[in-house]
Amino acid sequence: MKKLVINGGRELDGKALLQGSKNSALPILAATVAVEGVSIIHNCPDLTDVTAALKILGHIGCKIKREGHTVIVDASGANRFDIPENLMREMRSSIVFLGSLLARFGKAVVAPPGGCEIGLRPIDLHLSAFGLMGVEISESGGKLECNAHGRMNGRHISLSFPSVGATENILLAAVTSQGETVISNAAREPEIIDLANFLNKCGARISGAGQSVIYVVPAKRLRPAEHTIIPDRIVASTYMACAASAGGSVAVDGVIKDHLLPVIPVFESSGCRITVSGRELMLKAPPRLFRIRYLRTMPYPGFPTDSQAIVMAMLAKANGTSVITEKIFENRFRHVPELVKMGADIRVENGCVAVVEGVEKLAGACVSATDLRGGCALAVAALGAQGKTVISDIHHIDRGCENFEMSLSQLGADIKRI
Ligand code: EPZ
Repeated sequence: MKKLVINGGRELDGKALLQGSKNSALPILAATVAVEGVSIIHNCPDLTDVTAALKILGHIGCKIKREGHTVIVDASGANRFDIPENLMREMRSSIVFLGSLLARFGKAVVAPPGGCEIGLRPIDLHLSAFGLMGVEISESGGKLECNAHGRMNGRHISLSFPSVGATENILLAAVTSQGETVISNAAREPEIIDLANFLNKCGARISGAGQSVIYVVPAKRLRPAEHTIIPDRIVASTYMACAASAGGSVAVDGVIKDHLLPVIPVFESSGCRITVSGRELMLKAPPRLFRIRYLRTMPYPGFPTDSQAIVMAMLAKANGTSVITEKIFENRFRHVPELVKMGADIRVENGCVAVVEGVEKLAGACVSATDLRGGCALAVAALGAQGKTVISDIHHIDRGCENFEMSLSQLGADIKRI
């Protein structure tokens, strides 16, 4: 089983090139199923989650070609609307294929994705929206059988929570429905805008993406399109946290500043100096970070839950006490015991509030990644710790970070994959 070995205590210096966004690539790859023809997707990151999505596309009958970061999907031959359990389990967010299978075939058979390391991950908002749009859903033999009996109907759908996945699934179903769809309390993440931009290139007329109310005028037929995925704002914040934790100054090339507005002030209030010119962000770390008095994760444009673990890791050595509240997922502090093994002083109160007492220093230890962002948090802490850290179960990290150790060693980190 692969591990990462990090010898901490060295400042970082240099430039990292930012990958394409995992959470934009996945729904857009799913969307290609709804388009009969050859779609070309650029800046697609090389991740195990993307490979899993391509396996699902292949299973459905799409022809896939991968040339570097460009993926060419010929969905004209797609002839199946079922996703087998093993492929559904391989990647939890495969639920987003439900909307595009319904858009293409009017039916879909999938296994419920089930929970993952960070929470139960229910899909009630997805299913109730499809129900409103005329999809009959039955569960038999552990499978969800969905049938629209022809075309779905556009509806006004009000989400009780601005769920990213539910918003994406409704967009995917709405673009070939009969009549307009309006989504109220929609998720506002940049990945929603990216998906809407792709679908508009395919002939849909979506307006309001990125706001809380999105209007969808469907297309008679979707035509293939070429699209470049937005950069990964969470991986950008990961590199920023590595530099903040290890010290030094780092450039992250390829950012979209607007997408980082929820995180830049947090890094600045911990003492980091940040400048952005064009697509390049420069971060200079202070000798020692200041604590963040109170931080809570919220739907975009609030502070992203996906950046919670990495910011906690950098605050483990800050001067003072930080209080971090996780408001999105119910089990997203699994990295805390691993950080404590490295000498962090963190207490979790009733599952969703972490009190981080900054310590003078962390010591390298043998730790294991609990999930994707929790695994990145261990690397953040290890870079700022004295001595050697060995991180196991790094397959979690490979789900979302492309060439993780290569990028960090380019920044001067002493890191090896063994
Ligand atoms: C997406 O997950 C991202 N994944 C997550 O990133 C991210 O943390 C999350 O959005 C929030 O930003 C992808 O885009 C592939 P949600 P998603 O639906 O769509 C509850 C990472 O590390 N909920 O906005 O699953 C749910 O339980 C991953 O890259 C329901 O109750 O997130 C959670 O508490 C982790 N019912 C909250 O909403 C539903 O039907 C947010 O979930 C759907 C969601």
